[in-house]
Amino acid sequence: MARLPPAQAEQPTKPLLRTLAGLPSERPPMWLMRQAGRYLPEYRATRAQAGSFLDLCYNPALAAEVTLQPIRRFGFDAAILFADILLVPQALGQGLAFKENEGPVLDAIRTAGELVRLDPKGIHKRLDPVYEAVSRIKGELPPDCTLIGFAGAPWTVATYMIEGRGSSDHAAAKTWAFGNPFGLDSLMNILVEATVDYLDRQIVAGAEVVQLFDTWAGVLPEAEFRRYCIDPVRRIITALKQKHPKVPVIAFPRGAGALYDGYAAATGADAIGLDYTVPLNWARDHLWNRTPVQGNLDPRLLVVGGQAMAEAVQRLLRTFSGRNHIFNLGHGIVPETPVRHVEELVRLVKGTETAV
Ligand code: CP3
Repeated sequence: MARLPPAQAEQPTKPLLRTLAGLPSERPPMWLMRQAGRYLPEYRATRAQAGSFLDLCYNPALAAEVTLQPIRRFGFDAAILFADILLVPQALGQGLAFKENEGPVLDAIRTAGELVRLDPKGIHKRLDPVYEAVSRIKGELPPDCTLIGFAGAPWTVATYMIEGRGSSDHAAAKTWAFGNPFGLDSLMNILVEATVDYLDRQIVAGAEVVQLFDTWAGVLPEAEFRRYCIDPVRRIITALKQKHPKVPVIAFPRGAGALYDGYAAATGADAIGLDYTVPLNWARDHLWNRTPVQGNLDPRLLVVGGQAMAEAVQRLLRTFSGRNHIFNLGHGIVPETPVRHVEELVRLVKGTETAV
């Protein structure tokens, strides 16, 4: 049997890992944020079987099942662990419930004095079923499919912890950020440490890539963006790289706008997730510059489908053709997405020839 030279032997073979390592590919690897979810009838059935969304997250067999459902149906290049960014505050001891049509509800923490309610030491007891799900998924994954673990970035997780629910203006979190920055640093420190431990355990259990979701990065002015978005993410990535130097980290600072520029270098992220407002040519010229980019089809286009979606997909593929691009949406799939539009999207992306 011919043996590869050592440099080549170490090169990854899975499409997503190859793109993250800066290697060329015939088409971009693809996966979709929120690819497991309510738009899939089989997800709705498994969720009903589990009882509630949180019961599903903490049931390793069923969480593995819903993680793999979109892989079986669409053959995506990556599976993303089924869990939620708010499991970390719950593991820290904050009350959490998901109410139908209302989203998450937490016992809000409004001041630094209330941080004593959190217990950073015992998180794994609660999170063990998540690691168990990771190893089950890893055991059942098709050979070319990469397993992505994830966590929320500290600022985004903190907004939910402070507001106690989803919010449109983030008034309480921003009031805390501006009014008592050292107090908020204490919460950031707790979240940085918990997130490093959580992602470390996911990697040990079998996650091959991790993604940090900073969904609310776009609501902060520059100085606070640097303090609460860039700095904590940089500390998480630095700590993870010490333990797992070869595991790529994708960071998704949604809505960062002009602050996307320099974000990868400042945080040490291996790839950057683009939200759907980032202009393609600007991203190609300013961000791509060797850092792989992920994104950024508007999830509403996947609801609309047809010509509008096809044209946007072609634009995206053309812009990043020959560069390291991971095809994805610019935010998560919405529940009203027709399954046949996802099938069409897969055909459009996988049918692409390499353009020069
Ligand atoms: O992408 C995947 O398929 C993996 C699973 C995943 C979920 N949430 C499952 C989920 C991931 C990666 C997340 C991340 C997450 N969770 C984020 C960051 C990404 C983003 O979408 O901005 C945020 C902000 C959360 C917090 C959260 N979870 C909210 C605000 C809600 C309510 C809104 C909604 O869509 O219902 C959730 C619930 C949630 N998380 C669902 C799923 C599949 C729907 C729950 C259900 O089945 O009823």
